[in-house]
Amino acid sequence: MNGGPVLAVRDATRRYASGDTVVTALDGVSFEVHAGELVAVVGPSGSGKSTLLLIAGLLEPPSAGDVRFHGARVSDPGADLDRLRDFRRRNIGFVFQKANLIPFLTAGENVALAMEIDDVPPRDARRHAERLLDGLGLGSRVGNLPTRLSGGEQQRVAIARALANDPALLLVDEPTAALDGRRGRQVIGLFRRIADERGAAIVVVTHDLRAADHFDRTIELIDGRIVDERGRGG
Ligand SMILES: Nc1ncnc2c1ncn2[C@@H]1O[C@H](COP(=O)(O)OP(=O)(O)OP(=O)(O)O)[C@@H](O)[C@H]1O
Ligand SMILES: [Mg+2]
Repeated sequence: MNGGPVLAVRDATRRYASGDTVVTALDGVSFEVHAGELVAVVGPSGSGKSTLLLIAGLLEPPSAGDVRFHGARVSDPGADLDRLRDFRRRNIGFVFQKANLIPFLTAGENVALAMEIDDVPPRDARRHAERLLDGLGLGSRVGNLPTRLSGGEQQRVAIARALANDPALLLVDEPTAALDGRRGRQVIGLFRRIADERGAAIVVVTHDLRAADHFDRTIELIDGRIVDERGRGG
């Protein structure tokens, strides 16, 4: 690994056809995230935050521009993203706004499944899942089905699942929307710890800047463009 950024998005534009018109969801966005960095993305509804995560996470190609991992170009308008499925699984963790847990699997099984898909032996996967959940304060909930967990607990299971394969990049969309202020700050504090302890590069879309001092940088989007980028305390 070199000392450069984990993720570099370069001049990324994303257009969607919408009936007869074209919506430009992202308009020439460039930014980088280094290992151990925690970056917030803010902006009004419809400003392109989720689109940015989809492109950075290789779930959608940009219409122009490219995405690089450790300096290597992995996505551009011609990229075949299906072929990147294994790369994505090994390198990127996603936490979506809704936890999207599999309802008939327990918390532990939801987390272990992410590793079993990656050929980790089931018993090792289960043990690692328990350790991850324990580290997120859910040691006593490993055997619970999602319906037997609170909204915040489900979210933490989704975070554990995203961490299961120890990704270099973690992309998180609106983790605190469903949480009250104290819980929301705890979740952001948790991402701070994950960035510090695992050296993960983390991008968090959030409306909630009450925990702003945890972020290394904040990127503000309006109409698909970065209008402001400021560091801690700036
Ligand atoms: N699949 C799609 N097809 C057409 N238009 C889309 C599509 N996805 C997003 N858009 C449009 O692109 C723009 C940016 O959407 P995006 O979901 O990135 O916004 P956002 O900043 O995440 O908003 P929110 O805070 O409401 O989640 C919006 O105008 C949206 O309507
Ligand atoms: Mg969104």
